Amino acid sequence: MTDSIVFLNGTFMPQSEAMISPLDRGFLFGDGIYEVIPAYDRKMVGFAPHIRRLQNSLTAIGINLDWSEDKWRQLLSELLRQNSGDSLAIYIQVSRGVSPKRQHGFPDNIEPTLFMMCYAIKPPVNYDDGNHQGLHLVSQQDLRWRQCHIKSTSLLGNVLHYQSSQDHNVDECLLFNEAEQITEASSCNVFVVKNKQIFTPSLDSQLLPGITRAIVLDLLRTHTDYQVLEQNISLQQARSADEIWLTSSTKNIAPAITLDGEKIGSGKIGKTYKEVNSLFNQFKYDY
Ligand SMILES: Cc1ncc(COP(=O)(O)O)c(C=O)c1O
Repeated sequence: MTDSIVFLNGTFMPQSEAMISPLDRGFLFGDGIYEVIPAYDRKMVGFAPHIRRLQNSLTAIGINLDWSEDKWRQLLSELLRQNSGDSLAIYIQVSRGVSPKRQHGFPDNIEPTLFMMCYAIKPPVNYDDGNHQGLHLVSQQDLRWRQCHIKSTSLLGNVLHYQSSQDHNVDECLLFNEAEQITEASSCNVFVVKNKQIFTPSLDSQLLPGITRAIVLDLLRTHTDYQVLEQNISLQQARSADEIWLTSSTKNIAPAITLDGEKIGSGKIGKTYKEVNSLFNQFKYDY
């Protein structure tokens, strides 16, 4: 099979020569968007609405690539011209670009990565011709974007939440679900302290089962008399907490002191945090 021609960051080239850095945020975070445009005999179906949806997707995730329809049409026509086949899909992917380091927040001055290729697709099936059966289906609950217990690299949702917290000039966000119950932060689990009780949301598909969370729970249960509760925490309860901590492998245990501009408890780093953090530092290598 001859090498197909692809377009990568401004250059047409054989697919075998197209290379993207593993630090590309499309690879690391799923931080990108895509389109697929079918073309039969080099004629595209739905070119303009596809390009409008592409622009809308780019705008929605804050990638700046504001090309005219004419520029897109010219490039896509050239891509079709350089590839053989009568029934082709044009695949367009734009990621936020290559990061100097892995971090959720958008890096400054990052150039988007634009990759386009064609691949052969079957000509549309004519279900009217009497030679084709219809499709067989199975019903399933829609779980998309709701499987946060999987440590998936599809982190666009987390990335957008984290960036929004940066845009608010704060460090992290406290996420809650439709029932206004706390789930987690963009890349941390959450603990809430109130009146000698320590709460953390119970594990389900709405949060990642953090390793730091598990270590903290074990330390609390083994070395302290605090009542430790894995259960729902309402946003209201979080607002009236004595302390809130975030936990993750890179943050360890981090105390929060304000929520939406209001003090959490005394607005100072709490004494329960200090006690538990010192336990954590004492025993963290034992796990
Ligand atoms: C969404 C999310 N929740 C929680 C955590 C904390 O998990 P761990 O303590 O294993 O680092 C992370 C860590 O990356 C995360 O991405």
